Amino acid sequence: MAFQRLSMASRPLPRLLASSPSPSLSSYTRTASHAQPLSLSLAISAVGPRDRHRSQFQRRIQLQRHQHRHYPSYSQVDPRLSRQLIRGVSAPIAQTLLVARSNKIRSPLSLSLSHSHRPGLFFSTATSPHLQTRRSTTMAVGTVLITGGTGYIGSFTTLALLDAGYDVVIVDSLYNSSKVAIDRIELLAGRRPDFYQVDITNEKALDEVFAKHPAIDSVIHFAALKAVGESSIIPLEYYRVNVGGSIALLQSMTRYNVTNIVFSSSATVYGDATRFPDMIPIPEHCPIGPTNTYGRTKSMIEDVITDYVNAQRTNLEKEGKPFQQWNGALLRYFNPCGAHPSGIMGEDPQGVPFNLLPLLGQVATGQREKLLVFGEDYPSRDGTAIRDYIHVVDLARGHLEALNYLRSKQPGVKAWNLGSGRGSTVFEIIKAFSNVVGRDLKYEVVARRPGDVLDLTANPKLANEELQWKTELTMEKACEDLWRWVSNNPQGYRQEPPAELLAAIKKA
Ligand SMILES: NC(=O)c1ccc[n+]([C@@H]2O[C@H](COP(=O)([O-])OP(=O)(O)OC[C@H]3O[C@@H](n4cnc5c(N)ncnc54)[C@H](O)[C@@H]3O)[C@@H](O)[C@H]2O)c1
Repeated sequence: MAFQRLSMASRPLPRLLASSPSPSLSSYTRTASHAQPLSLSLAISAVGPRDRHRSQFQRRIQLQRHQHRHYPSYSQVDPRLSRQLIRGVSAPIAQTLLVARSNKIRSPLSLSLSHSHRPGLFFSTATSPHLQTRRSTTMAVGTVLITGGTGYIGSFTTLALLDAGYDVVIVDSLYNSSKVAIDRIELLAGRRPDFYQVDITNEKALDEVFAKHPAIDSVIHFAALKAVGESSIIPLEYYRVNVGGSIALLQSMTRYNVTNIVFSSSATVYGDATRFPDMIPIPEHCPIGPTNTYGRTKSMIEDVITDYVNAQRTNLEKEGKPFQQWNGALLRYFNPCGAHPSGIMGEDPQGVPFNLLPLLGQVATGQREKLLVFGEDYPSRDGTAIRDYIHVVDLARGHLEALNYLRSKQPGVKAWNLGSGRGSTVFEIIKAFSNVVGRDLKYEVVARRPGDVLDLTANPKLANEELQWKTELTMEKACEDLWRWVSNNPQGYRQEPPAELLAAIKKA
């Protein structure tokens, strides 16, 4: 989409909000209100002296258009956003992008302001208040390789990164995913990520991708086998793909000087946290102790990344070379669930799903007769196991924040829990999903599964504070979005989504 560029001098922007801490901030808001946006999406980049010293924060605000053109004040909209904005504009060298969407604006407009903060303002003609997607950008914030990017969490993270102005290159073997995910990402983001069908254990193929895309400076690593039960049946395959694949990736990254890695770890690494006093909700300092092969591969990869990044930093420092560019984020997610609110993107495993909510989705659509509940003799409020369910859209945003943190703060290796802090039992989930579907879903209680634990509820305080990230969407919202996805697409990506859902996106 083309933008028309104007200078600050050619269009002075009046102050709107008396309470605004920054004249430049109020200028943006004022201009946005002229445009009568139905939805505003705002991204702030604090850009350091060099390109890689850069962080970006993205938040969205929905501004309801009022009859009398009255808009809620900035702080009324989202206090966290305004805190970030203040920090963004007061940074010594900062760049602020404000993306506004409006069906009122006929010709897209870009304002380049020429004071020390050098903010830019971009309006796009796309209106998408509920889909929360970004249709255009004038520059890439950075380029990221996403392994496993056509999978469930990978596809949502790709969307979040494109939406925030990153360019994305995906490698995936399509072992448990479909290329159609890329079409859906493009439909929602208005941009298509590059894609290569590559096995993560194939170092040579990874080299070729890095060689073709020299702009890549970071990796988000999702590609893995992830079925807990299967991991105890074919453990060598789990170690080969998960651990071996991660080592191949680090080797290849090193050859191409790609030095930031965000890794998909799991709450499974904690094992049974109830074996210690005061470890529920689980903090990051809870001792690691996975109870199954899959969890052990994840904890082993955490160790591999930690040892390697630390060694790279130490060795380079000894040689008197820059070393702080080597960084790793170990993101321990709790139970990802839900789908895109548009109803056209969601989880579409190639075989039998392993997680509770997709299984319940199959019961609701009649593809499965009933849900098996593994154990009702846990010491919980209703006897079933407790998990922390996190909406996949929130989780994807967590990756964006972790990536931005690595690139701006260069902390070395850090682990963060990505969870809501709210635990729900299996029975509570069945009830919440049944409420959304409008009828009781059939289940049967069977014996506990070996390796399952009573309670995996996150303490997300560290991510809340350091990454300025916290969940915004509830488990109930995840149930709603999941039902919209499965009821409209019972065949997942093997069918076209209903015309009315596509029409809603096109209209937006
Ligand atoms: N979904 C969860 O409940 C959960 C929880 C914690 C952690 N994780 C981790 O998050 C990551 C993504 O999980 P997901 O739920 O999106 O799973 P997913 O299966 O949908 O995504 C994984 C992707 O990796 C790809 N892949 C598998 N083997 C590969 C290989 N050898 N080479 C290249 N690509 C390969 C698959 O095709 C798939 O697209 C995984 O590492 C998983 O262990 C998932």
